[in-house]
Amino acid sequence: MDETDAAGRRRGSSEKASSDVLRWTPKASPTRSLLSQAVTSAGVVDLEMQRQGLASEEADAASLSSTADGILPFNVAGFNPGRPQQSDDAYESAPSLRFGSEVVAETLGEEGENYVRAGSVSKREGVFLTWKELWVTVDDGKRRRLPILQGLTGYAQPGEVLAIMGPSGCGKSTLLDSLAGRLSSNTQQTGEILVNGRKETLAFGTSAYVTQDDTLMTTLTVREAVYYSAQLQLPDSMSTSEKKERAEMTIREMGLQDSVDTRIGGWSVKGLSGGQKRRVSICIEILTRPKLLFLDEPTSGLDSAASFHVMSRITKLARQDGRTVIASIHQPSSEVFELFGYLCLLSNGMTVYFGPVSMAEEFFASKGFPCPTLRNPSDHYLRTINKDFDADIEIGSDGTSTEEAINILVESYKSSETFQQVQQVLSKICQQKRGTLEKKGSQASFITQCLVLTRRSFVNMYRDLGYYWLRLAVYIALCLCVGTIYHDIGFTFGSIQARGSMLMFVAAFLTFMAIGGFPSFVEDMKIFGRERLNGHYGVGAFVIGNTFSSIPYLLIISLAPGALAYYLVGLQKSIEHFACFALILFVCMMLVESLMMIVASIVPDFLMGIITGAGIQGVMMLNGGFFRLPDDLPKPFWRYPMYYIAFHKYANQGFYKNEFEGLTFPNIQAGGPATITGDYILRNTWEVEMGYSKWIDLAILFGMVVLYRLMFWGIIKTVEKVKPIFKALGAL
Ligand SMILES: Nc1ncnc2c1ncn2[C@@H]1O[C@H](COP(=O)(O)OP(=O)(O)O)[C@@H](O)[C@H]1O
Ligand SMILES: [Mg+2]
Repeated sequence: MDETDAAGRRRGSSEKASSDVLRWTPKASPTRSLLSQAVTSAGVVDLEMQRQGLASEEADAASLSSTADGILPFNVAGFNPGRPQQSDDAYESAPSLRFGSEVVAETLGEEGENYVRAGSVSKREGVFLTWKELWVTVDDGKRRRLPILQGLTGYAQPGEVLAIMGPSGCGKSTLLDSLAGRLSSNTQQTGEILVNGRKETLAFGTSAYVTQDDTLMTTLTVREAVYYSAQLQLPDSMSTSEKKERAEMTIREMGLQDSVDTRIGGWSVKGLSGGQKRRVSICIEILTRPKLLFLDEPTSGLDSAASFHVMSRITKLARQDGRTVIASIHQPSSEVFELFGYLCLLSNGMTVYFGPVSMAEEFFASKGFPCPTLRNPSDHYLRTINKDFDADIEIGSDGTSTEEAINILVESYKSSETFQQVQQVLSKICQQKRGTLEKKGSQASFITQCLVLTRRSFVNMYRDLGYYWLRLAVYIALCLCVGTIYHDIGFTFGSIQARGSMLMFVAAFLTFMAIGGFPSFVEDMKIFGRERLNGHYGVGAFVIGNTFSSIPYLLIISLAPGALAYYLVGLQKSIEHFACFALILFVCMMLVESLMMIVASIVPDFLMGIITGAGIQGVMMLNGGFFRLPDDLPKPFWRYPMYYIAFHKYANQGFYKNEFEGLTFPNIQAGGPATITGDYILRNTWEVEMGYSKWIDLAILFGMVVLYRLMFWGIIKTVEKVKPIFKALGAL
């Protein structure tokens, strides 16, 4: 505790009100008027603010600060006499008048017809989110459960921004995750979360959530990213130009107009700054103007002016259209702090304060922690409750350590009138069973989604060197090697073995190399994960988009290097034979990609994924019928069923049939006929199943591609369905 703080606290307890000292009151800031102008100029009467009496406070403050305003860069005003004195009695006597539940009263109140209509959604259609006695625990690995959130109670209502604040690690993200139904699987949750008084699942499209980390398609420009997203989410009834306009407007709202044509950039290519990426993420989620919006630290990485502008746009969205916004926030400047209607202050997962922002100061003061002069109140609250660095800081002169301060605050909050009022409002909200929340999800049709995703993915694959271009280069190099090593293979007896090996190499190793695109695919999966949870599109559209966008590239990398190897080696000359060769190669590459999709849906990390994928393919390669002839494979497991599961069997046999059928070779083995036919070699040397043609092999491979992609779809759908069941079982 430093001296100013201690002094402030002393002053608070001894002098109570220091009206003779100039103090920095948030109310006098010009931002209030800026915001109200912004709202009114948009053609909407600022009912919300008038109702809360902010306009009159503003006038008070303006008159008081008129002298100071001209001199000081910040708003330093005289002590606002309109606020209650910092004493217990004043605090206890005032609150009911100032409690900010007007919205609830108005929307749930008796005068039912007389609801406020602001913007496009009335408050009546808005979303009330309530949570009661919310506990989230996590297994610490020693059969004990560590609490992350401890019995939180609160609510969020339309037209207001609820700010969740607290030191880092206090559970802000966990609270947001649990409200949005996205807790990770190693946590358990108890308590009641209701949407409009009903139990509902909020993931997959009912709410929008801007998570703490930005997962964006790094190869796109800002304009493309937002516009593709607009096409994915906005209804088909909107025209293309309207969607474009909406995207442009949202970009301007987030102040990104100067970097619209900059690529977003990622770990390999530098693009946007962290703060700009943050704003792109917000852009994408507010495009559809969701009724319920979660923001996890939307202003991290932003300078104070940008934070203010971003938050004021979000506040405007909430106030104007009656949206419900819950945002966790680090370090709000005083201007930003004033934009919030409600504050949830957490420490170690416990509520230090939940209630209207306007009453927080009085609450702290009444418990002996008044906000010192010239300090941003939010800084003061965070300072008071951050005990992470206690060891380094000497205990305040009044002898309270931060630990004790937190205990005092947590305990007194539980017995405070504010808490009781919160509970009253909460039960009022819960009693009023309102309409169920319709899925916000995408309103675009499935076909549109598939088309947009195909186009977006195609552009991404084109720009991402690691996806296909690098592989093309490696393939060309490898095929040159194959082509020169087996150059002009001829028709000698020895060429039989050489042909077999060369074709095996193509079937096994060239397809194996399709793993190379896996890291890029994992990035795609992350974006897919985020967008799906926010309901932009489903698994089906993703699979279709990914499949169709990859076809042209796979065709290029199977045709060009394939031709190089094929003709350099001098395999069967006819075009039909080459077409079959290239098609089998193409389908095998697609198959390996599908296999890697399945791996990506199970293994979360790209390094683990590559290892797993390589392992699976290694096994398949080994029992595909080349390294050990099919008849020699041990019958249990390896022959049945592994030999039939391994796609190398079909690839190999397809290649062999394609090449050997119709050829004859001289026989140098003693005692046999002078020549051997390709058919004989296929049956006896390679032990190929000759009951069906090479085209059937190709068809089987193609069928496997479809099956694998369906499996990917199935796994994701199953995980989605099964996870909540396991969670529910775990919570018992
Ligand atoms: N899934 C989890 N497993 C283990 N610990 C977790 C998990 N989620 C959160 N925690 C712990 O809970 C605390 C709160 O985390 P978080 O909500 O991310 O904090 P913040 O307020 O910074 O967003 C941290 O100490 C974190 O380590
Ligand atoms: Mg966090």
